[in-house]
This record gives sequence, C-alpha cells and structure tokens, in this order.
Amino acid sequence: MRLDRYIASVTDLSRKDVKRLLKDASVTVDGECVRDPAFQVNDEHSVELDGQNLRAPGHRYFMLHKPEGYVCADKDRLHATVFELMFEDNMERLHVAGRLDIDTTGLVLVSDDGQWIHRVPSPTSQCFKRYRLQTAELIDPRCAKRFAEGVYLGEEKRRTLPAQLEILGEFEALLSIQEGRYHQVKRMFGAVGNRVVSLHREAIGGLMLDSDLEEGEYRALSEDEIDACFAQAGVDEL
Ligand code: URA
Repeated sequence: MRLDRYIASVTDLSRKDVKRLLKDASVTVDGECVRDPAFQVNDEHSVELDGQNLRAPGHRYFMLHKPEGYVCADKDRLHATVFELMFEDNMERLHVAGRLDIDTTGLVLVSDDGQWIHRVPSPTSQCFKRYRLQTAELIDPRCAKRFAEGVYLGEEKRRTLPAQLEILGEFEALLSIQEGRYHQVKRMFGAVGNRVVSLHREAIGGLMLDSDLEEGEYRALSEDEIDACFAQAGVDEL
C-alpha cells in the first residue's frame, strides 16, 4: 500500500495533511526518513509519525502466562501450543512475539499485527526482556561483568549485547537481555560454566506479566500496555 494512504488509513489525517507531513520529513519507515508518498509499505514495516509508531486499526494484542510443557509455535505435531490456551476468532492470524522454550514459563505476547510481532523481540527496539532464573551451580558475582560485556555463544561470531544480571541469591538471579537468540539465557549461563534449571520471563520492555493471570490464562492488552512495549526502556527501568 502507498505510504500516504497507509498513514491516512490509520490516523484521522487527510491525504493532503499526510503529504505535507511527508514533505516536512516527519515520517520514518523502519527508522529511515521517507518523503515519497508513493513509497510502498506493508504489515512488516514500522511506520512512525513524529516518533510515534502508527498501528493499523483492528489488530489484537494479548499477554499470556505460559505454563511449562507448551510450545510457542503455530503448530506442533508432538506438543501442545500456547494457542491451545486461547479462545479467539481467527486464531490462525495470531502469532507469538518472541518465543519461549517449552520448559520456560511467563510472559508471552500474542498478536495479529505483523509489524508489532517483529518489532517487539528485535534488539533494535531496545525492548529488554527480563527473566527470573534458578541455576544448578552457585552464581559467580563476576558473571555480571561478563554479561555486561557480552559473551560468545558457541560458534556465533558476535558477542551477546550488553545484558544486566542482578544476583538475588546463591542460585537465583534476574537477567535482562535485548536479543532473543536461540536458548539465549541458558546458553549465556552455559558460557560461564553454570546451568539454568528454571526460567521465567517477567517483563518485556515496560510491560510486566500481570500477577492476576494464573499459568495458562491470558487477557487483552490495554492501549498503554501496547505502547509500553515500545518504550525505550533501559535495563534500569525494568
Ligand atoms: N532464553 C532461553 O534460554 N530460553 C527461553 O525460553 C528464553 C530465553
């Protein structure tokens, strides 16, 4: 769809107003300023007007408290999926924003907004994910520095982005990470000679798992909560 039409459809601005705003360099697509009204955008693009993300109307956004034993896949031949815990129309349109392992519990975001689903887990959105974890071995206080500097995971060429470790006890900690690499938290602890034995996601960006939600329950997000996911939350704010 043309950019000017897209903006007009998700705001109450006229096409004329939109053209003026484009001329004034007020619009970015995936972080790049775009002035061309005919620029083609789709669901995967992140369109911002004066720094505010524009979402297409009618999308649905949920938080779910994932129990152990469920996978965050659209379909799975062997295991139950988190979608089996939900009862909504057009379930096939819903997808998870940032998967958790089968044995990880906690906050899972679900939506049919493709742009949002890609943006929330992306490191560039600076949406920190905070995990509460238990380990098999004593947590060495030096891990905090190692995680802040980044560690190499297996054969991967890039270190992990700076992460914040808050040690709560000999075997318990909070870890906030920006990325969502495969088994990232477990592999980070593996890289420092420890092993995660339980993992629970408490927060994504400024959004906390609702303590009223029992495992397996879910609810729709409020507008404020949807926006909170995009808040440029630093680790300290989580
Ligand atoms: N890191 C992991 O190792 N597992 C998860 O489920 C999430 C983050």
